[in-house]
Amino acid sequence: MPSSRGLARALVAPYAKHDGPARVLEVGAGTGPVTAELARIIGPQDEIDVCEIDDHFAAVLHEKYFKSGPLADAARAGRARLLNQPMQAIEGEDRYDFIISGLPLNGFEPPLVTDILACIQRLLKPGGTYSYFEYAAARRLLRWSINGKTRRRVTQVSSMVGALIGKHEIDRQLIFVNVPPAYARHLRFEDGKQREA
Ligand SMILES: C[S@@+](CC[C@H](N)C(=O)[O-])C[C@H]1O[C@@H](n2cnc3c(N)ncnc32)[C@H](O)[C@@H]1O
Repeated sequence: MPSSRGLARALVAPYAKHDGPARVLEVGAGTGPVTAELARIIGPQDEIDVCEIDDHFAAVLHEKYFKSGPLADAARAGRARLLNQPMQAIEGEDRYDFIISGLPLNGFEPPLVTDILACIQRLLKPGGTYSYFEYAAARRLLRWSINGKTRRRVTQVSSMVGALIGKHEIDRQLIFVNVPPAYARHLRFEDGKQREA
């Protein structure tokens, strides 16, 4: 289910409030509900990378936003790029002021969650903001699963994500109008390099 406009707006809110040039990474863009919001607010000196692992969704994003759509001018100027690859393959460190993620961490195996969170912390500049969403009560509900393997996986992911939120969350919004309702969460890692997850 694509994110609602309300959820997409909540996810890009820290970037929307930002003054001055910024580098932004969107990961797990899907068909682009968050990309649409980014395209609406991109500043003339900002740079945006949109990462999507799936070839079909990447082709949709290219058609809708990069070829002749709202990011086409920025793409021609080299300020907007579509990266059709796993986000873990993005090289470098301290590259982005904002990372906005649609990756469903609660559906991943713990080692993949560890990789993704380490990668986000590697790519985020110190003091940068990582924004992502999770469906309200998703971790609690999944822990009631009758499937023991799912229960163990979600319990592990939940304690990793919960520790990260407890330590680094700076803001969150509950978006009731999303289906299902979801939290937009915003995290900051002051030194950008913590690897606790
Ligand atoms: C739940 S969808 C979110 C789509 C959209 N951002 C939204 O809010 O509706 C997650 C997306 O992440 C993509 N994805 C999964 N693993 C990825 C990875 N390692 N790197 C980049 N994209 C990934 C999937 O292909 C999928 O399109």
